[in-house]
Amino acid sequence: MINIKILKLGGSLFTDKNASTGTVKIDIVEQLAFELGEYVLKQDKKKVSLVLALGTGSFGHQPAKQYKVLQKFNPMGTIETYKSVARLSSIILQVLNKHNINAVPVDIMSCVVAKNGRIKSLYIDTIQLLIQNGFVPVILGNVVMDIETKVSIVSSDQIATYLAKELDANALGFGSKEEGVYDASKMIIKEINNKNFGDFEKYIGASEFPDVTDGMLGKVREILQESPVDACIFNAKKSGNILRFLRGEQFGTKIVGYGTDSTNNISKVVTIESKINSKKVNA
Ligand SMILES: Nc1ncnc2c1ncn2[C@@H]1O[C@H](COP(=O)(O)OP(=O)(O)OP(=O)(O)O)[C@@H](O)[C@H]1O
Ligand SMILES: [Mg+2]
Repeated sequence: MINIKILKLGGSLFTDKNASTGTVKIDIVEQLAFELGEYVLKQDKKKVSLVLALGTGSFGHQPAKQYKVLQKFNPMGTIETYKSVARLSSIILQVLNKHNINAVPVDIMSCVVAKNGRIKSLYIDTIQLLIQNGFVPVILGNVVMDIETKVSIVSSDQIATYLAKELDANALGFGSKEEGVYDASKMIIKEINNKNFGDFEKYIGASEFPDVTDGMLGKVREILQESPVDACIFNAKKSGNILRFLRGEQFGTKIVGYGTDSTNNISKVVTIESKINSKKVNA
């Protein structure tokens, strides 16, 4: 498969992240779906090659925080968080389908096993077949089973970078409500790489609202450490920006992935190389 694009859309964009229960901003969902629909319309229906990873805002972070899902094993809290995220998924899927996007949900509780909150395995075949047949897989961060902690949370930031690796994606974008990552004077940082991250880290924080996966700092770290390609963090609320990303434009803040960062540590490169080699052996 070629030219796969992975777009993560942040929960802070289309939910009221500060609300105590899941609250969707339906006008924003409509706007995002309209723009995605414009893109899909211009593609060969069988070669859309787009995957959407969606954040969950108040639908995921609020129940996870309320039930302390990450602190101790809590079956009821797990179920409540799962149900809340599933509710958001169903609302968004309905809008995407209305805009002629053949969006299909992929439930990570059913296809992921984690180890200490990191994806240990993910059943990729379904996602590959969906893409090959012109569907747009839509995957939300959620609670998953974990071999160490019983239950953990896998964020859509982690899903997006993981899938970029597994699917050999050539574009990875993070649509946010912010213009990018800001420095101390709220200016957009043009590029963050492994070498300059230490200079900027002090300006990057968690979310202003409840976020159990560390907000902007978690996102930047995730990309620096796990993305095989460069990614951009951009404002997806601004009309036209999703199309700019999908057409290959680089704007907002560029985060240099480990696969392209010459300053990065060698162990990651070894990991991906051994993975490619083992894939060849298995092929
Ligand atoms: N230096 C920074 N630049 C930009 N945003 C920052 C910075 N430091 C902290 N933030 C906060 O991080 C937030 C973005 O992270 P957050 O995880 O909330 O976004 P998201 O990915 O849209 O949401 P979700 O996790 O629900 O998908 C911003 O809205 C802002 O409040
Ligand atoms: Mg977040």
